[in-house]
Amino acid sequence: MINPVIKWSGSKRSQAKEILKNIPDKFNTYFEPFIGGGSILYAIHPQKAICGDICKPLISLWNEIKERPEELSKEYRVRWNRLQNEGYEAYYSIRDDFNQTYSPADLMFLSRTCVNGLIRFNAKGEFNNSLHHTRKGINPDTLEKIIVDWSNRIKGTTFMAGDYIETTATASPGDFIYLDPPYFHTVGRYYGTRSIDFKSFIQFIKDLNNRGIKYMLSFDGKRGDTDYTVDLPKELYKRHKFIASGNSSFKKVMDKEQQQVYESIYMNY
Ligand SMILES: C[S@@+](CC[C@H](N)C(=O)[O-])C[C@H]1O[C@@H](n2cnc3c(N)ncnc32)[C@H](O)[C@@H]1O
Repeated sequence: MINPVIKWSGSKRSQAKEILKNIPDKFNTYFEPFIGGGSILYAIHPQKAICGDICKPLISLWNEIKERPEELSKEYRVRWNRLQNEGYEAYYSIRDDFNQTYSPADLMFLSRTCVNGLIRFNAKGEFNNSLHHTRKGINPDTLEKIIVDWSNRIKGTTFMAGDYIETTATASPGDFIYLDPPYFHTVGRYYGTRSIDFKSFIQFIKDLNNRGIKYMLSFDGKRGDTDYTVDLPKELYKRHKFIASGNSSFKKVMDKEQQQVYESIYMNY
């Protein structure tokens, strides 16, 4: 499985292989306007890409990984050493700094030392996850290798902070767009927005069809016997598939029972 550089809730890491099998054979520019942790961008490894996200600090971190991998690794090492020497006070002081300045190096550090590595923002856009007390955080040497690997992988990508409609505004026939919006049936923990407006999103998909642009959309699927499939108008896509996405860890804890989780992919080609 892909080794993430940014751990992100809703990552498609476990589905990357199946998603890859279903992308078009050839395309010009690759667009991914809900980039999150970028697992599909990594898996596809396009020569030219335009990726975006509504979460501005996330995009600043992507640009830092791309443009200044060595400096970012060094800055992580400084913060990680502080944590080992000073303890939890270092974490909370860096978290306060981040919430003032939105420094990408602070976000990298927080994401690798917070509880379960979950990047979480409150409604004011402040990072609010706590320190993971029982872990030291990834070793700086290990993280440096991951950052450098990703940096090389995303050299042809332009990152944009903004809404999915803006990020894909320049797409034209021959390009390919992979869409992974927040799910409609789960309350999101995403920065600044809980979900997206369904009506506008459907209109956007219609426009992509009218513009002659290929897209793949990841969406709600099934969990055990419960079907969460969204009623997407049939004329908007040509194929719908369920792909396995591993078991729900929540269910495993609650009932000691494993439920197979499937996600949907829709394609207009
Ligand atoms: C399911 S996650 C994407 C996960 C990603 N595919 C991965 O593998 O890590 C959805 C992303 O959409 C972003 N988002 C939410 N509303 C958005 C909007 N209106 N425009 C662009 N991005 C948005 C969130 O910040 C989040 O990063």
